[in-house]
Amino acid sequence: MPLTEEEIGSTATSTPSKKFECLEDLPGVGPATSKKLQEMGFHTIESLATATARELEPAGISEKKALDVIRLARGNIELAFTRADELLKQRQTIDRLTTGSQTLDNLLGGGLETQTITEFYGEYGSGKSQLCHQLCVNVQLPVQQGGLNAATLYIDTENTFRTERLVQMAQHQNLDPEQVAKNVIVADAYTSDHQVFLLENADKIIKENDIRLIIIDSLTSHFRSEYVGRETLALRQQRLNKHMHKLIRLARAFNAAAVVTNQVMAKPDVFFGDAVHPIGGHVVAHTSHTRIYLRKASRGPVRIARLVSSPYLPDGESIFKITQNGIEEVEEDYRKGR
Ligand code: GTP
Ligand code: MG
Repeated sequence: MPLTEEEIGSTATSTPSKKFECLEDLPGVGPATSKKLQEMGFHTIESLATATARELEPAGISEKKALDVIRLARGNIELAFTRADELLKQRQTIDRLTTGSQTLDNLLGGGLETQTITEFYGEYGSGKSQLCHQLCVNVQLPVQQGGLNAATLYIDTENTFRTERLVQMAQHQNLDPEQVAKNVIVADAYTSDHQVFLLENADKIIKENDIRLIIIDSLTSHFRSEYVGRETLALRQQRLNKHMHKLIRLARAFNAAAVVTNQVMAKPDVFFGDAVHPIGGHVVAHTSHTRIYLRKASRGPVRIARLVSSPYLPDGESIFKITQNGIEEVEEDYRKGR
């Protein structure tokens, strides 16, 4: 017999640590509600834990019931930290993922963080997609080697993902290329709508495949080409904002690193300083926790990474290079000659 709302409320407070495996384990969520929630993209307890009551409304449940369900889901994955000391505790669960270059890792305070979004932006050929490929390999490494011993979800919007490139990088690290390729789930996004849909429905795939790296390469290309003209800007920003928030919530729920790439636009009116700026305006700027601007050095395979924004790290620059092997450290002699 389904529980009344009062019963659900008391269950929520009296047994906050009860473990639920699937949606229907949650008191008050029957088969019909579960089906609706799944149609809306909520396949896992983790995704419910980071939902808002309003988002669950279309499933036909009251606000109170939605709040109860969310609270139960949160209790299940211990996500509902509020006090600063508890936030600190949550930060201690953050893990780091190596980029493949020690100096770039140092710039980032020890590698990419889980539970946050890292944005790489820069011109064509600056190495954004190459870094994404490298991260797909690195995340599979054991923790002692800078990995997370986990898999990747790669949302490819420009059709630039190449398994051959993964294989090259894997071989260089003496990893089994076949195994490495198996641990990268690639989803081609054909439009911005499709891109949003893929992420909205990603929670189950993330859980089932032990994914702890979520890449969107590129975040903005579809949005940029589909929303042209000033009158569409507000809608584009609103949709991008929602998309980014979904990404943050997945990253938090699954303790995953989230990586997005972004192109740049020329700023015709700038004579000094940077004449480019990333697409997506304030929405992307404010929801990416760490932003890295990539550009080509004057010669060869070397790239310059500049940390433009981080919640707690100082701005700075570092260099790395892109070779057959992947992302690599630049030798000391080049540094000195720079
Ligand atoms: P857009 O997506 O066009 O905005 O560019 P991006 O920033 O994603 O560039 P990407 O990461 O694709 O970098 C392309 C560059 O990486 C090439 O111009 C090469 O310099 C380098 N690169 C890519 N693959 C290889 C490779 O197999 N070997 C070597 N040595 N370099 C490579
Ligand atoms: Mg690219």
